[in-house]
This record gives sequence, structure tokens and C-alpha cells, in this order.
Amino acid sequence: MPKVAIGARTLLYPLPAFLVGANVDGKPNFSTYAWCGIVNSSPPMLSVAFQHHRHTLKGVKQNGTFSVNIPSIELVEETDYCGIVSGRETDKVADCKFSIFYGKLANTPLISECPVNIECRALHILNLGSHEMVVGQIEEIHATDSCLTNGEPDVAKIQPFLWVMLPTNQYWTFGKPIGQAFSIGRKVKG
Ligand SMILES: Cc1cc2nc3c(=O)[nH]c(=O)nc-3n(C[C@H](O)[C@H](O)[C@H](O)COP(=O)(O)O)c2cc1C
Repeated sequence: MPKVAIGARTLLYPLPAFLVGANVDGKPNFSTYAWCGIVNSSPPMLSVAFQHHRHTLKGVKQNGTFSVNIPSIELVEETDYCGIVSGRETDKVADCKFSIFYGKLANTPLISECPVNIECRALHILNLGSHEMVVGQIEEIHATDSCLTNGEPDVAKIQPFLWVMLPTNQYWTFGKPIGQAFSIGRKVKG
């Protein structure tokens, strides 16, 4: 199979788009993050990579907590908006007409309109160069009841979406299931 070297770049996709929130100077602010992921299971932890000057990162450092909110496809405009303007310039909560609620952690704003809301305590901040990677311990998750099936979050009801940078820098919906995980691979050795 012929291959073409395309350089060392931040190409690892598809990536979901999340709304990460923190109170900054006492005011809720949310911005869009794709460079996020689960990094530990026990205790449950995730990471978010912030550029140093992000207003939201200021709030993470002020409170030691943050939230990760999973938007559904109905919120694609709001999600993009939160990724192109800074909370230093405008009140994104008012602009997007988000309803905010608070859960287990003080000073950690959550977006009602997002079907899944994850509350995190910031455990580590690692300066990697262009970005600071915040590792957060997941303290609680809230899910909209209509997005659950048998008490578990159901991706078909949540309808999250992906940010696909190349080739056309667009948001994509999820496709269809193609196989049972931890099972279909057994076919390889017949
Ligand atoms: C789809 C998308 C993904 C993004 N992912 C990241 C990311 O992973 N890390 C980051 O620092 N900025 C990311 N951004 C940019 C920030 O969301 C953007 O600079 C935002 O305006 C920062 O807002 P704030 O200053 O209020 O925190 C992304 C933007 C978009 C549209």
C-alpha cells in the first residue's frame, strides 16, 4: 500500500466537541474543547488540553474544578460560538441562553441544555508547551433522564457530535453501529 508522509501534526481523529466550563471571577464561562479524553478508570479521570491564555483555564485555576458538558446536535451553533469568542469579551452564557445549574462541586457551572454534565476536580496541570493539560477527577455525572436507556446514557438519544478538522473543518454526526465491541474481533481467528 503506497503511503505519503504528511508530517508530525495534531492529527488524531475523529474528536468530539465538548463544552468545558468554570466560574471565572465568579461568573460562569464555557468554551469548546476537542482535545479531551478519559485517562484513568479508578478513580475515573479525564484530561483537557487548554492553550495558556484561555479564559476558562483561569477559572479552572481559581476554583480547582471544572465541568465537561456534552452538547447534542441541536447545540452545534452554540458550541461553535463558544469556541470562537472568549469570555474575556462577552457573556457566552447570556449569548447562548444557557440555563446553568450546580451539582456536587461548589463553583462548578453545568449547562442544563447539554444532556450529559461531568463535574471534575482538577488534580494535575501539566505544561506541555503550547497547551496545559489539566487532569480532572470525575466527581459526579448528571444526565438528562430522557437520554437514558435502562438507566444508562444512550448515545442515540444524547446525539453528540464530532469535530473533523480535515479536510473541510466541519462538525459531523455519529454514524451507525458496525459491530459489537470486545466481541466482533474474535472472528479474526475464526
Ligand atoms: C471545535 C473546536 C475545538 C476546540 N478545541 C480546543 C482545545 O482542545 N483546546 C483549546 O485550548 N482550545 C480549543 N478551541 C478554542 C477555544 O474554544 C476558543 O479559543 C475559545 O474562544 C476560548 O474561550 P475562553 O477564552 O472563554 O476560554 C476549540 C475551538 C473549537 C471551535
